[in-house]
Amino acid sequence: VAALLDRRLIFVTGKGGVGKSTVAIALGLLAARSGRRTIVAELARQERVRNSFAAGGDTFEEVEVADGLFTISIDPESAMEEYLRVKTGRIGQALGSSRLFQAFAMATPGMRELLSMGKVWELAQSARRTSGADPYDVVIVDSPAAGHGIGLLRTPRTFADIARVGPVAATAQRIAASIDDRSFTAVLAVATAEEMPVNETLWLSEALAGDGLALDAVIVNALYLERFSAADGTRLARARRGTGVSSPANAALGAALSLRARAAAQREQLNRLAEGLGAAPLQLPYLFAETFGHDELHALADALDAELGR
Ligand SMILES: Nc1ncnc2c1ncn2[C@@H]1O[C@H](COP(=O)(O)OP(=O)(O)OP(=O)(O)O)[C@@H](O)[C@H]1O
Ligand SMILES: [Mg+2]
Repeated sequence: VAALLDRRLIFVTGKGGVGKSTVAIALGLLAARSGRRTIVAELARQERVRNSFAAGGDTFEEVEVADGLFTISIDPESAMEEYLRVKTGRIGQALGSSRLFQAFAMATPGMRELLSMGKVWELAQSARRTSGADPYDVVIVDSPAAGHGIGLLRTPRTFADIARVGPVAATAQRIAASIDDRSFTAVLAVATAEEMPVNETLWLSEALAGDGLALDAVIVNALYLERFSAADGTRLARARRGTGVSSPANAALGAALSLRARAAAQREQLNRLAEGLGAAPLQLPYLFAETFGHDELHALADALDAELGR
């Protein structure tokens, strides 16, 4: 896994709300800190990265949010306009800005995904086709939730197989070949140590393996520290029985017991995931903070660094 940041294209996927965007940004910070020119690409105008760094700028623009760390929000419409402008000059530009043509193109199943993947791929090229654009060492894609993420990864291959000839097929073929090249592309899954996210990660791992796209790493996010052992739990419970129901001591001991129970439940799910995957996932701590800001992102980057070097 140490070589993870040597891949040019890294997809971060996983169930909704498990911390995909957070992990993508932390990984981006880590890559940038190591001297790699890095961009975190969000799909579908989420603008999470921009907001985390209070940066402005047009969404489809590449904006630097920290030293060596850039972000872009990719939407299929802008991706198509750019593609046609760069590839076909004035006629393409006219087509790209035609609402009728846009509506027609976007109605083609999978076209939105292909256009987004095309832009992601373009960002990861050492010779950028967008004139004047500098190359990146690492492109991190904050992918949509698991099912859609798989669809996204499969789209170029599907187009290449269906179209076979013509410019779309040729482009799709080039993108698909880059994704299949595991020295170029990595796929990460983020999960939390809960029943459903663990199930979905095991499903994702199998579905991707079936496509020859085995997960490069699974990251379990937001883990509680195990502050209390099982024996501590017994002692806490006994102490609590000696307190008055509405006393502060009762409440404090209750909170400690509840935290212990949650940490224990997480360990169970973590073990189930490790067993299912046949490998220990990387672990990131739950960070207690009033607002999740720069310090927290850097702390997660540090934790990722340690886990990747393990
Ligand atoms: N390790 C952590 N400790 C504490 N809070 C966290 C941690 N990781 C993520 N969070 C918080 O959890 C929430 C969800 O995280 P995030 O937006 O990264 O998830 P997501 O998977 O990208 O969600 P979506 O599927 O909606 O895009 C955010 O408020 C984030 O600040
Ligand atoms: Mg997100």
